[in-house]
Amino acid sequence: MSFGKITATARYLPKKVVTNEDLTKWMDTSDEWIQSRTGIRQRHIAEAENTSDMCFKVAEKLMTKSKLEPVDLDFVIVATMSPDYTSPSVACQVQGMIGANQAMAFDVTAACAGFVYALATAENFIRSGMKRGLVIGGEKTSKLLDWEDRSSAVLFGDGAAGVLLEASEQASIMKQMLRADGERATSLTAGYRQNKNPFCTNPEVNPSLAMDGRGIWNFALNDVTKSLKEFIGDESVDYYLLHQANKRIIEKIARKMNEPIEKFPMNLMNYGNTSAASIPILLDELIEAGILTLNEKQKVVLTGYGGGLAWGNLLIQL
Ligand code: ACO
Repeated sequence: MSFGKITATARYLPKKVVTNEDLTKWMDTSDEWIQSRTGIRQRHIAEAENTSDMCFKVAEKLMTKSKLEPVDLDFVIVATMSPDYTSPSVACQVQGMIGANQAMAFDVTAACAGFVYALATAENFIRSGMKRGLVIGGEKTSKLLDWEDRSSAVLFGDGAAGVLLEASEQASIMKQMLRADGERATSLTAGYRQNKNPFCTNPEVNPSLAMDGRGIWNFALNDVTKSLKEFIGDESVDYYLLHQANKRIIEKIARKMNEPIEKFPMNLMNYGNTSAASIPILLDELIEAGILTLNEKQKVVLTGYGGGLAWGNLLIQL
């Protein structure tokens, strides 16, 4: 049996940067409030580009880094909660844009846990005989937001990143744990599709992202930390790449895990919460900075958590 190995990473952030100070021009907020509650200083916002455009840029970079041809790919999987369309999937759009015409393609919808869910799914395809494919997390969260709602609009940003996963003799994704709790589904909702047709007239529902901030906070500190502790057991881990939602959440999880904060790299100050893109953006930056190196066998844990509620952990020996 073969196992999945990450052999290349890439990211793409849209050009426009919106600082906290910029937001104060049309929202009753302040840089002090946002930074002290979340750690976020700025976010990138896609203007004309949509989710598929950003994911395409990532796919192109991955193909260039790998020196493979797009027809060599067996799958393209995109994790997103902000697709261009209900159908086609972003993955199918990207597959077409790069000409990966031998690859199957589909999206995974697990909000901020999306990349972890997608990578676990891809690993299982490789274990069942596929050779290689792209796993990308991409979000244009800015189109889901109510830009008048200061309690959520200040938290998010746009971007995309991903990995090339290839078959290898040795296991690299050592362990996976995926969890969900649909009973708390309304803790975070976004993109409601109006439930109407000529035969029924249900009331309009606001489709903008809405969340129970405190509820999500408690979920991250309690459920996610508990699962992470169970998952790790007495394994020694070099770095924890947690979903980048809030600096205070990550600091508290580090404390509860009894691990030094240096093992929890963060970049949310620069990007805000990019949902399914946050973990692969961080992974690519750490590799570019030489903090992580593919093939050096560092042990990293990827932990995603968010809307669904859905969460998950992967232990990877790079
Ligand atoms: N600027 C200024 N004031 C604000 C803003 C803002 N942008 N947003 C809310 N406020 C006000 C509220 O109106 C409220 O005022 P009130 O007390 O007069 O009613 C007050 O600030 C709320 O303040 P706190 O309770 O101190 O806020 P808290 O410390 O709970 O922080 C936050 C809120 C940042 C949302 C926090 O609960 C949180 O991070 N939760 C996790 C949510 C999250 O990360 N969601 C992301 C999606 S899911 C995921 O990725 C995990």
